[in-house]
Amino acid sequence: MSHSISSSIPMRTLRAVSQLRDSLQPARQAGLTVGLVPTMGALHEGHLSLIRRARERCDVVVVSLFVNPAQFDERADLDRYPRTEREDARLAERAGADILFAPAAEDVYPAGFASCVEVLGITDRLEGAVRGAAHFRGVTTVVTKLFNMAQPDVAFFGQKDAQQALVIKRLVEDLNMPVAIEVCPTVRERDGLAMSSRNAHLLPGERTRATGLFEALEASKRLSREGERRADTLVAAAREALARADIEPEYVALVDPDTLEPVERLQGPALLAISARVGDTRLIDNAILEPSHQEISISRTGASPAKAPA
Ligand code: PAJ
Repeated sequence: MSHSISSSIPMRTLRAVSQLRDSLQPARQAGLTVGLVPTMGALHEGHLSLIRRARERCDVVVVSLFVNPAQFDERADLDRYPRTEREDARLAERAGADILFAPAAEDVYPAGFASCVEVLGITDRLEGAVRGAAHFRGVTTVVTKLFNMAQPDVAFFGQKDAQQALVIKRLVEDLNMPVAIEVCPTVRERDGLAMSSRNAHLLPGERTRATGLFEALEASKRLSREGERRADTLVAAAREALARADIEPEYVALVDPDTLEPVERLQGPALLAISARVGDTRLIDNAILEPSHQEISISRTGASPAKAPA
């Protein structure tokens, strides 16, 4: 539980690492815990849920806002990424942030910057396969830098970016970083669309079709609840739902949630991950499927009676 000392103090926006360090120093000396919520801004309820969770769990809450050029694989995506710092500051403060850390790109990547941090293996698949190795290298490098800058006890990430959360957990474990990672559930619009800063780019017709990603996850989940365990069939159900929404996916994959290796049968929890372009906007979403204990009964179809259990 948090012992917030700061709820009545207005949030501060800081740009320099030295300022951030100086303002966290007294809290750290007093043995208080620091929570970090890394973001690229254009804050929505998904981000705010992480900030509120950090407020519950930590004494001091730092939200970082940095649109990280190193992780964008398309120049156009970086250029049109929404930048709404003033509104972000208002929302972050209301959700319980003590410090908004919004460094300038020249300070994060000064002239001569020449280092990177890379997680191998799990970064080759799914998003890594579509966006290229530079994407996750950009994420892990900037997250390492943010961890070194803020030195948080806990950092909060969203399940919406399931592969990213997994990569960060791997990073922290492999490099012995003294920070706990908490992954928070995906926050959705009322019609199921996962909240994302990129949703703002969807044209009205695209916004309606975009719920196809959620419907695809639900279709596959429903089948798994009915006892279906074959990955091909579960993936096909998701693809059909996407086709109904006139969405051509970049990938639909049922994978092991720890290794991201494809699974053939649902034998334990598996991650169903989807990426698709709706118009010019790339969207991703995912769900965990669990094997149902109820096997599909053949008698239900009337074809032949189900075998009695041995
Ligand atoms: P960004 O896309 O701004 O997301 C910041 C955090 O919010 C991530 O952990 C993301 O998973 C989480 N998030 C986004 N949408 C969410 C939703 N609908 N529900 C719950 N959580 C959600 O992810 C990044 O920024 C960057 O890669 C970053 C980690 C900041 C490194 O630059």
